[in-house]
Amino acid sequence: MKGVVFRGLEELVIKNQGMSAWEALLDKHAPQNRVYVSAQSYPDEELFALANEVAEILDKPLTDVLRLFGEYLFGYLTERHQGILQQFSDFQSLILGIDSVIHTEVAKLYHEPNLPTINSQQLEDGRILLRYSSRRKLCFCAEGLIYGAGAHYGVKTKIEHMQCMHDGYEQCHLLLTFGGN
Ligand code: HEM
Ligand code: ZN
Repeated sequence: MKGVVFRGLEELVIKNQGMSAWEALLDKHAPQNRVYVSAQSYPDEELFALANEVAEILDKPLTDVLRLFGEYLFGYLTERHQGILQQFSDFQSLILGIDSVIHTEVAKLYHEPNLPTINSQQLEDGRILLRYSSRRKLCFCAEGLIYGAGAHYGVKTKIEHMQCMHDGYEQCHLLLTFGGN
């Protein structure tokens, strides 16, 4: 996982729980003197260990923490890659362009990123079936990113996690229903 993702988590933890909480997390789950550099890659296990501990501290399910983190990450990533967001005029076109535009661009900007495979299919206006698969099974983080995108465009979004890799399926199916304000 790229450092930019860790740095998003770092910012979120420091904002909510303070610097000493983040330092305690690092002491426990990262090698000594760890400093995350956006463009560098770090072990996925390190991110999972940090997220797990945040869930324990907050006494919340890991799925909720990953969702919250994803929501925050959307703003964090788009702030750092403003050109990407400018290519989309609305929520729907952004969701339809995650794989073909956003992550394709990410693959040019970062050296060997580990990206999920996402296929977004419009069913009708206001409804998209999003198929997600990744070795990292970060589908709840994907949910959060989608909510973050909805918040950015002021679009109310409902996500039904119809099937999930965590239940043994090869891909997750997320049914998105959105519209209104
Ligand atoms: C990684 C989904 C938008 C940049 C990921 C991951 C997920 C994801 C779930 C974690 C890796 C995995 O699952 O294997 C989404 C969704 C988006 C979205 C659902 C929109 C709703 C964006 C945007 C940017 C971005 C707007 C940048 C401006 C990245 C980067 C990574 C990543 C840099 C990390 C790659 C790595 O660690 O090697 N994305 N993403 N994504 N995404 Fe996205
Ligand atoms: Zn899932």
